[in-house]
This record gives sequence, structure tokens and C-alpha cells, in this order.
Amino acid sequence: MPLLTKRDDIEVVLWTEDRVSDRQWLLENVKGAVGIVIVFSELVDAELLDAAGPNLKVVSTMSVGYEHIHVPELAKRNIRLGYTPDVLTDAVADISVMLALMAGRNANETMGIVREGLWPKFIWAPFALCGPQLSTSGVSPSRTVGFLGFGRISHATLARLIPFGVTDCIYSSNPNSSTSHKKERDEKLLGQHQPQLKSLRAVDLDTLGRESDVLFILAPGGPSTQHLVNEDFLRKMKKHSVLVNAGRGTVVDSDALAKALREKWIWGAGIDVVEGEPNVGKDHPLLKEPRCNILPHIGSASFETRLAMATLAVDNCLAESFFVISIAITETDPVFFFIFSPATWYHAKMKSPSKICHMDSFSSNAANDVVPDGKSFLPQIFDPHAIHYCLNAAVDLLPLCSLLVIYSRTFTPCLRLIERPIAV
Ligand code: DGY
Repeated sequence: MPLLTKRDDIEVVLWTEDRVSDRQWLLENVKGAVGIVIVFSELVDAELLDAAGPNLKVVSTMSVGYEHIHVPELAKRNIRLGYTPDVLTDAVADISVMLALMAGRNANETMGIVREGLWPKFIWAPFALCGPQLSTSGVSPSRTVGFLGFGRISHATLARLIPFGVTDCIYSSNPNSSTSHKKERDEKLLGQHQPQLKSLRAVDLDTLGRESDVLFILAPGGPSTQHLVNEDFLRKMKKHSVLVNAGRGTVVDSDALAKALREKWIWGAGIDVVEGEPNVGKDHPLLKEPRCNILPHIGSASFETRLAMATLAVDNCLAESFFVISIAITETDPVFFFIFSPATWYHAKMKSPSKICHMDSFSSNAANDVVPDGKSFLPQIFDPHAIHYCLNAAVDLLPLCSLLVIYSRTFTPCLRLIERPIAV
């Protein structure tokens, strides 16, 4: 908070309670704001943006997910969106592994025995309270982990699982993201984890359900992923498989999951997110399932991570320079134009600069390996590493350019770096 309050050029209106703000309070206090810092449970829609009025330039969410924000509404008003990728990757990957262990080894059920004072009555038996082991062993030498959503958090989770002896990795991810990018990335990832990891491949949902021993759901929410894990999907899973959801609750149909656990189609579940959260009361069907290990959305809840997220959210809100780089290649006439995020830069590199290439597709959320359908809106989401990528891009592409211009966030050319005849 000192980041904000120490600046005497900024007037800060603060919700002082340690909980999500009241909607009414927000609507009343947002009037005239230039930037808003919010959390993932605060809805940003036309009503809020109208209440803020025309001064609003940035909405900065302290989350990597941004389903709570109506991005097209922001685009219409030319308001930028900041989010917090990267800084929470490790914390969420940690908790994903924890949930996999808890679900496989019956943590909820067995801790219940202790909590309810039933341990003294428990009769030990060789296979009592056993569950499937996450790590490989002599009798079970292979493990296939599946990922629904294959962004940074999935990669970090996979890395943590290699010492457990995981042998194969399969994933299904956003069908709109570039295939050549995926191929190159997968070869690199496999190389990093060989020889322990024998295979890594993209599969369809059907195969993901059938072949995963442990399935990690680390996909974003929203209509495109709603209930991808439904009764049909769960029925295909292995009886000893474990499902972990540390992505978004809406990806999983809770009733179907409760049924799958009750009827033992799968072994167990570890979930940090539930559809309709936080309204998950005692009578929720998933709470009745002893093999369902439920956490109240604490994936990023480590002191270190929350501090980094808060700092980044404030930095994003305050960001003075919102850079877009535009490279004009005079010989071939087109304008090679792109917006910064790591993923966008990647796409830009893939394109031949000698072709007409108008990168007006949206900058992507590499964290979740998803490219929102935002064709019509120009740079709204920015990545905290924009400047880094911007400068790298400039250095790499310099020999190909006749003109390199960096635009400021108002899109008025502010700095002309170089102008010279084309070199190739
Ligand atoms: C996020 O950042 O989107 C998390 O789910 C909230 O911590």
C-alpha cells in the first residue's frame, strides 16, 4: 500500500476492510477514478465502468484470471487491463501437487477419522486407508499426468512431478493457440525432463480423460471451458485416477464430480476452486464426498506470492508507459505491428517480416495458454514484461527495419529510434 499512499500526486480511495469491497461502495467511490485495483471476485462490467466515467484508463486485477472483467467493455472504452501472471505460478503449482497427494492418499477422509476422535477405534489392516501412490514404484513403474490447460502453472507443476517418477505427460489446451509454437515448446519441455519423462503430447479431451492417472485442471474459466469436465468426461477416467482442479471452478460440473466420487468412477479429487464459490455451504454435494479434498481457493495464498501480486497490481495500475512497438518496412509497404506480451512477441517472431502482417489479434494470456477472442480490440491487456520484450524485439528486428517507432500508451509516436534504408 505504501506504493500508493506515499505518492502525493495520487489521490487514493481505499476500501479499508480485509475483504472484497461492497458493490455499492465501489459504485459510489469509483466515480472519476483514473485507475482501479481490484481482486478476482469483483465484477467489472458496464455498470462499474459507467460509474467510473471517462477518466478511467486502467483496470488492474490482483489475479492472473480475468473472467470477472468484461474485456470487450474495456476495449470499447479504450481502458487497459493489467493482470498478474508469473508471480503466482510457483504457489499454485505447489498447491496442485499438494492436492494430488491429498486426493490420492485420502487426506480428507483420514484426517476426518482423527478429528472426530475415531483413531482409537481404528483397526489397522495392511490395506486399510490405502490409496494410489503418486510416485512410481517397482510394481507401478509408469505414471501419466494429464493437464487440461497447459500454460506456465502446468509447466511448473510438471517440473515438480518429475522427481516423483512421472513418465508420461499429456495435455489438452486452447485449440486457438499456435500449433508451431506448441510443437517447439513441447520439444523443449520434453528435453528438459528427459530421460525421466518419456513422452509429452497434446491429445484430445477424450484421450486426456482416458489416459491420465492424475489430471490437473489448470485452465481459465469462462464460456469456452465451462463444464469441459462433465459426466461424460468423468465416466471415461480410470478408476484409480485423481482429479485436481486449481484452475477455475466452472471447468468442472460439481454435480457430475460428486456422482463420480460417490459411484467410484474415479479415486479422488483435490480441488481449490468450486463453481459458484464462495457459496459452498455444508450441504454442497462435494462436501458429502469423503474423497473430495476441498480448499477455499488458496492457490496463490502464500505471503510471498500475495505480496508480489499486490505489488504488480499496483505497478500495473500506475504504469506510465504502455508501450506498443510498430515497425514499418517501407520496401514491402506493410506495417508490422504488434502488441506486447511474451506470447504475442512469439507470434510476431514467427511471421515473416517480408509479408504483410498486421498483428491486430489480441495479446494472449500465456499463463493460461489462451488467446481471448479480441480481434477488434487493440492493446488492452499488457504484460508486466512488456518493456523487456519490446527492447528484445527491437534488437532482433532492427536489421530488417527501415523505420522503428515506439509508441506511447496514447499511441502517439513518442520516440523514433532509427530510420534508414532497408537492409535486406
Ligand atoms: C488468480 O490469480 O486468478 C487466482 O485464482 C486468485 O488468486
